[in-house]
Amino acid sequence: MKDFKRYMVTSALPYANGPVHIGHLAGVYIPSDIYVRYLRLKGEDVKWVCGSDEHGVPITLKAKKEGVSPQEIVDRYHNIIKQSFIDFGISVDIYSGTSKKIHHETASEFFKTLYDKGEFIEKTTEQYFDKQENQFLADRYIKGTCPKCGNEDAYGDQCEKCGSTLSPTELINPKSTISGGELALKETKHWYLPLDKHEPFLRKWILEEHKEWKPNVYGQCKSWLDSGLHPRAVTRDLNWGVPVPIEEAKGKVLYVWFDAPIGYISATKEITNDWEKYWKDPETKLVHFIGKDNIVFHCIIFPSMLKAEGSYILPENVPANAFLNLENDKISTSRNWAVWLHEYLENFKDKQDVLRYVLTAIAPETRDSDFTWKDFQERNNSELVNIFGNFVNRTLVLTKKYYDKLVPTPNIYTSEDLAVLSEIKTLKANIEQNIENYKFREALKNVMQLARTGNKYLADTEPWHLIKTDAERVKTIMYVAMQLTANLAILAEPFMPFSAKKLLKLLNIEKISWEDAGTEIIKAGHIINNPELLFPKIEDKEIEYQINKLLKTKEENAKENVELTAIKETITFDDFQKLDIRVATILEAEKVKKTKKLLKITLDTGIDKRVVVSGIAEFYKPEDIIGKQVQVLVNLAPRKLKGIESQGMILMAENSEGKLSFVSPEKGFENGGCIN
Ligand code: 2FM
Ligand code: ZN
Repeated sequence: MKDFKRYMVTSALPYANGPVHIGHLAGVYIPSDIYVRYLRLKGEDVKWVCGSDEHGVPITLKAKKEGVSPQEIVDRYHNIIKQSFIDFGISVDIYSGTSKKIHHETASEFFKTLYDKGEFIEKTTEQYFDKQENQFLADRYIKGTCPKCGNEDAYGDQCEKCGSTLSPTELINPKSTISGGELALKETKHWYLPLDKHEPFLRKWILEEHKEWKPNVYGQCKSWLDSGLHPRAVTRDLNWGVPVPIEEAKGKVLYVWFDAPIGYISATKEITNDWEKYWKDPETKLVHFIGKDNIVFHCIIFPSMLKAEGSYILPENVPANAFLNLENDKISTSRNWAVWLHEYLENFKDKQDVLRYVLTAIAPETRDSDFTWKDFQERNNSELVNIFGNFVNRTLVLTKKYYDKLVPTPNIYTSEDLAVLSEIKTLKANIEQNIENYKFREALKNVMQLARTGNKYLADTEPWHLIKTDAERVKTIMYVAMQLTANLAILAEPFMPFSAKKLLKLLNIEKISWEDAGTEIIKAGHIINNPELLFPKIEDKEIEYQINKLLKTKEENAKENVELTAIKETITFDDFQKLDIRVATILEAEKVKKTKKLLKITLDTGIDKRVVVSGIAEFYKPEDIIGKQVQVLVNLAPRKLKGIESQGMILMAENSEGKLSFVSPEKGFENGGCIN
């Protein structure tokens, strides 16, 4: 492995249109905090930057809705996020923001350099314009009928029903989601970064030279590269953002994803005049911590920008995490389905480390994972309290009781003692290796293993019995237990800094460094402070309060949705009679390749065998539905979905959260039976 002189660490800039939640923490901010705290303890030269991503359409829309300026929205959430990070121990060197002057200057200058070097291509295209709002619309803000499946609520970039990728001009009857009004096509000129030009370089750099990247990151990059890169517009027709610094582009701003990553550079400029050392010297290791939805921007687009500029280094690694769910449901800001950090800090005073611990233990490092309040309580009570806290407390209490807080002088070590002392060294090495490979879950397990070893050691040696018969032996045991405790204080610091600090205080140790770990840290004769509990138990009522809060959110969401899906307009009996709905049995089912939502289902309708393509793959596994009876609309005109002719439609019930369920007849009904 290459040796680096210094580290430049970045964490994805959260959008300043809402506070941060546990998903952000588990995915990005806790892992990067562990990494940086570890590097600092090792005495490495490291800079870590973050800040708010303060541009982009959602912020302007929120401002409009509330009748305030975008800056007001941005300032509000910037302050909430910044304060909650401080209170949670996210020890970033600077939490900046992209609406700052220095960032506007840095991003402008970056664009100008690429522009002057001829790194952009210019294109004039027709784009949808909302006349009422007097603005061009981003694809997400256009809705219309999907040309592939007829879904009337398809977005300008994607139909969520059939999973097709769309462009706004493909939509039938496109409408603005902002004003609800009609749209007109209007010509506009934009500047594009020709990603295709950088493709050969990206292929070599990622696919050949960075095979060590996490499989999810490497795989996503490969699939982008294999499907071919295209020029990407880096300017937008908006009035909130960094103005494009060329005369011809008056009234336009930089695309938010062009300016945001440059925010890392701007923030570094704010903390050191030596910023170029951290961004341009090949002896600097640049690491981007992000969530999986940011992979393409950090592995393909930003590196292409840096490469095109010419004087910057490229990231050495981009450890992206998958997503965290909450109580088995996707975290969602708009549905308020989240545990917000600032609210957690209010509800669980002085329990930062419990959340840090749990979110690291369940971190979505390789796949999506799930946070539940019951698991949170269980991990606190049976791991932090019973294992970590219990060991530390026993050691401190016994030292006070037997030696009046004085660390005893050991006698001859037995093989048992030596095994424990050597395990500290082994676990330290494992922790290092795991942290350096971004395996924070494993590293935390190693830390806990140390506490488990301590508990076992005390349980096996039973100093509380031995004190009556062999007081000299107990001195050695307590000395060894004390070394374990002090090592825990150092090795746990990156993960649980508040508890580590408290433990150091109880041990009466002032300064620590990673180097000390693995050795006998506390000398005989050292005097410790009075013991205190590190982790209190979390009671059922605290957890019930949180669960009830979520139940309330669910109810509120359901109410809102019921209002949204009002009864459709009246039809005649003759209209209804036109529908031929039959009972059918599912004979075969398989996933449609390259789609997330579609299943190809073969049915026995009693009249014939036929194939229907249905968007239910998120709710049913193919193997689970074979033999199931369902209702099928059999006289729907056939249509092609992903190249497969779908001959009918399976009727599904949809609840207020978009979950789908078959509407099955009672068991054993004959196929072909009419529903009328
Ligand atoms: O996905 C997001 O939340 C973005 N605001 C992340 C930006 S990361 C960086 F490039 F600034
Ligand atoms: Zn569709």
